[in-house]
Amino acid sequence: MKYLFGNWKMYLTHQESVVLASHLSGRSFHEQSLCVAVFPMMLSFLEVDKQLHQSAIKRGVQNIAWTPQGAYTGAISAHMVKDVGASYALVGHSERRYIFGETNEDIRKKIDAALEAQLIPVVCIGETATDKAENKTEYRLKKQLMKALEGLSLQDNQLIIAYEPVWAISQGGSGKPCPPLVAEERHAWIKEEIKQYTKAAIPVLYGGSVNPGNMLSYMSCTDIDGVLVGSASTTVENMVAMIEAADKL
Ligand code: PGA
Repeated sequence: MKYLFGNWKMYLTHQESVVLASHLSGRSFHEQSLCVAVFPMMLSFLEVDKQLHQSAIKRGVQNIAWTPQGAYTGAISAHMVKDVGASYALVGHSERRYIFGETNEDIRKKIDAALEAQLIPVVCIGETATDKAENKTEYRLKKQLMKALEGLSLQDNQLIIAYEPVWAISQGGSGKPCPPLVAEERHAWIKEEIKQYTKAAIPVLYGGSVNPGNMLSYMSCTDIDGVLVGSASTTVENMVAMIEAADKL
């Protein structure tokens, strides 16, 4: 199974999100070999879900709270999003870690909450430019993986890892993607690391400046199970091109 996930971040208005979803709703692809999901902003989730309900495209959210219910102003729980149709939740995206200050501990609580609500967490890990410059990439990834996975009892495909080097993520436009060969080596290393924690099959996706022009160079690598696309996933043209290309793999 290959994965093509589109994280719309905070790029689109409500109206734009709904229009994009409605244009995608008629797309068909081989669902046995390709899993496509979009992650709209929370305000648009219900309407996007409605547009895609009959389609093969699944829906996820960009963030969840770690507690199920109660006096938590501004928070939305894993149970709540599961209840309205979400299949996936991004957890620990680098923008949540580095802009909103989420720690490995917060992220672990969110992973536990997602699993408890039967939502598949897409756990994002990745080294920053500073980590890379200081040769701390493996240290960073080991730590993030350990905090995320230690002690979990997982079944196949119950959790997904997205390797997103922070330096490769675009800032609303063109970014500096990680060369596919480097990404592939890193994925192989991550898969070995994961084996310390679980025997379950855990898909590992690549994210960071993926677009229709470079997507296949990642997707066609054996150790890369798919891609998590940010800014390039916010137009119909790009999404359709990526779905069509991924479907031919
Ligand atoms: P990008 O974002 O494709 O815009 O670089 C990827 C991500 O942050 O998931």
